[in-house]
Parts: sequence; C-alpha cells; structure tokens
Amino acid sequence: MASTTSDSNPAQAVPSDLKDRLKASYDAIAPEYNEWTVRHHAQRLQYLEKILAPLLDSNPSGQLRVLELGCGSGVPVTEKLLSYANVHVTANDISTAQIELARAHLLGSAEANASERLDLVEGDMTKLEFPDGSLDAVVAFYSIIHLPREEQTEMIGKIARWLKPGGYFLANFSQGEAESVVMDKWLGEKGWAFWSGWGKEATLKIVEEAGLHVELGEVSGHDTKELFLWVIAKRADH
Ligand SMILES: C[S@@+](CC[C@H](N)C(=O)[O-])C[C@H]1O[C@@H](n2cnc3c(N)ncnc32)[C@H](O)[C@@H]1O
Repeated sequence: MASTTSDSNPAQAVPSDLKDRLKASYDAIAPEYNEWTVRHHAQRLQYLEKILAPLLDSNPSGQLRVLELGCGSGVPVTEKLLSYANVHVTANDISTAQIELARAHLLGSAEANASERLDLVEGDMTKLEFPDGSLDAVVAFYSIIHLPREEQTEMIGKIARWLKPGGYFLANFSQGEAESVVMDKWLGEKGWAFWSGWGKEATLKIVEEAGLHVELGEVSGHDTKELFLWVIAKRADH
C-alpha cells in the first residue's frame, strides 16, 4: 500500500521472518495507519456495497457468514458488515494491536447483538481453516497484498473452496507485478512493510483458475498515486 516508491527496494528477496516483522510493525503503527487510511474509507464501502446488495437481496432473513482477512481496526468495513442484523463476521488480523482496537470499536457498538455476531481471530490468515462451502463472502482490504505471491495464490484457492455456491470474494491486489517490495520506515520509524503482487492479468487468471467467476476486475484508487486492482468474484451457483 505504498504511496511512494522512493524508499522501497523492489529487488529485495522475500524475508523469511516477514510475518513476525509485519505483526510487530502493525502493532507499532496501528494508530498512525488507521488515521492515515481514513481517506480510503469511501472507496472500501463503495466496493463492499457491490457484494452486500446482491447477498442481502438473495438472503433477506437468513444468516450470512462473512470472513474478513486483515480486518485492521474494524473501521469501516467490519462495522458496516455488523450493521446488518443477519450478518455474522469472523474478522482476522495478525496484529494484536489491530485486533484490540477492533474489539474496542466493535464490541461496544450499539449494533444489535454485535458481540454475538462477531468472532475476532488473531493470527496469520494463511493458517485459518473453514469447512468447504461454509461462507457467504470473504473480503480482504489491503491485506492479501502483504503475503508473498505464492501464498496469495494458495490463499485464493482456499477462499474459493470455503465459499458457498453463489458466495462472493472481494479483495484488492497490487496492480503491478512485484515479488517483493520492502519499506523500512513506512508511516513511521517502526513501520517496516512488505508487499507483493502478480499484477492484474495474472491475478485475475489465478482467481478464475481457483473456480471463481470474475465479475469485476478493475484498477482504481482514490487518487492516481494509489491505484490497486479491485476484484469481485463469485463462486458458481452450482
Ligand atoms: C493495510 S492494513 C489494512 C487493514 C484494513 N483491512 C483496512 O482496510 O484498513 C493490513 C492489515 O493486514 C494485517 N495483516 C498483514 N499480514 C497478515 C496476515 N498474514 N494475516 C492476517 N492479517 C495480516 C495487518 O496487521 C493489517 O492490519
């Protein structure tokens, strides 16, 4: 999610301890990151609405089970999901600080039975397990981009299996191709960061090969410096 490439090093290899370092980084910079990214909130909600509308229409009263990967502080996406009384959210993040911020924001919320409809799960998203065909939607805003590329492919494969027929996957990815982009001081002295991506065409192919139909695959951003590939994909109805 780098807003500049001036102090990044695309040639660096994938660090072996990147999960520990990313956790330590988000634990240190969570407040700064959450403040900095308020300007992206409208775009998050705009894409979320594109999957919520058909999901709620097709299932107005039954419970919808949504998994959010790399939920951060839970604002605005988890909060929006919980505003629907029939939505149950499993919200995952590797950062203890982000999970605690999400707990504070969401469990004190006035939304009906929010505490009964939210599971906060701390840890690496690649270690999560769900039964096949058990989720109505999986969403991941600016989070899968922190995985090495091979793990992104495996993650998309798991997501496709976890979705129910007719279920939706919504995520954003790097629009360009990069095996490893590292910044030592992103958003602060302790803000070590890593991103990677397959680029637009390869990412869309990976999503399709996982068994999902790409309904939207577009590059956009809230300004011209922060462009991402946004993907909405659906598991076939049967
Ligand atoms: C750029 S922030 C995005 C947070 C939130 N989704 C948002 O849109 O503001 C990336 C988040 O992903 C989390 N994260 C990074 N790697 C992760 C991993 N392997 N598993 C789970 N969460 C991870 C970070 O702790 C951080 O909260």
